[in-house]
Amino acid sequence: AKSVRLALLGCGTVGTEVVRLLHEQAEDLTARIGAPLEIAGIAVRRPGRERGDLPVDPSLLTTDALGLIKRDDVDVVIEVVGGIEPARTWLVEALRAGKSVVTANKALLAEDGGALHDAAAEGNADLYYEASVAGAIPLLRPLRESLHGDRVTAVTGIVNGTTNFILSSMAATGAGFNEALEEATELGYAEADPTADVEGFDAAAKAAILASLAFHTRVTAADVFREGMTAVTAGDMASAREMGCTIKLLCIAQRGIGPDGDETVSVRVHPAMIPLTHPLAGVGDAFNAVFVEAEAAGPLMFYGRGAGGRPTASAVLGDIVAAARNKLTGTRAPSESNYAQLRVRPIGES
Ligand code: HSE
Repeated sequence: AKSVRLALLGCGTVGTEVVRLLHEQAEDLTARIGAPLEIAGIAVRRPGRERGDLPVDPSLLTTDALGLIKRDDVDVVIEVVGGIEPARTWLVEALRAGKSVVTANKALLAEDGGALHDAAAEGNADLYYEASVAGAIPLLRPLRESLHGDRVTAVTGIVNGTTNFILSSMAATGAGFNEALEEATELGYAEADPTADVEGFDAAAKAAILASLAFHTRVTAADVFREGMTAVTAGDMASAREMGCTIKLLCIAQRGIGPDGDETVSVRVHPAMIPLTHPLAGVGDAFNAVFVEAEAAGPLMFYGRGAGGRPTASAVLGDIVAAARNKLTGTRAPSESNYAQLRVRPIGES
């Protein structure tokens, strides 16, 4: 059968593992999809960089991302670069041209997901982004498909591994924030500049994506109330423990009814005390977990690795398979361009 041709934008931690998985699983993937997947090109900033034993022909590397996207023989564009621009320009271009897009770009989806969804509708193209929230955990597809016959009322999650590692270590050892952050940095769980994680920006972007999908509306990062976890002290943790609780940085998205009887959503990220008996309390290390409540389904718990090259690549690969199958059968991913706009309720509104 004719192959499905992939353009990979970015070849860092996640991109490298995407290439490896494509290579390792090639035979199985071909059997599952019904046609081989073929890398048409990989856009990188520095093509000359040492890439070890990456199983790819160096002639596939290019610095011209837009040129690669525009090629007629590219069916699926995979973006693992991150950031708003130039990713938005690239992906809008791809979608409008009818190419499927698989992206892990939470910042872009949280800031301007609407632009991508509209471009997908315009180009009658697929937009998949399972890897953008909670890494390897199959979470967006359940919200996007499996639960569509139900009504989700709340999503409560630990969606940032760095801060969960820090808070778990504070709870376990009695350490203060700075000491726990130092340990996280040494072990590679925290970046040199941990601001996006510890101040809750990363979790807020993920919360916006989750709320949009759970409630079929558009929530952006700017709509999310955000408080980081740098002020949590060893004393706070000890007090929580005395009350049979622990402290986690939670994202909380809820449906509600506004003062005028209108349907609303509220979305927030902040440190919260939760009882040690709650399913989220036992989520340790750098793991992620998301607790979903739906009217008919009741409580659901999703748990797994929320970061790392290989776990994240697993989610990207799942999306590539879905997009490739759709290409071959002429079907499409569920559309989110037709969502109703619910009012996002400011925190504090009664
Ligand atoms: N810094 C993020 C985390 C990476 O700690 O969860 C995954 O998005």
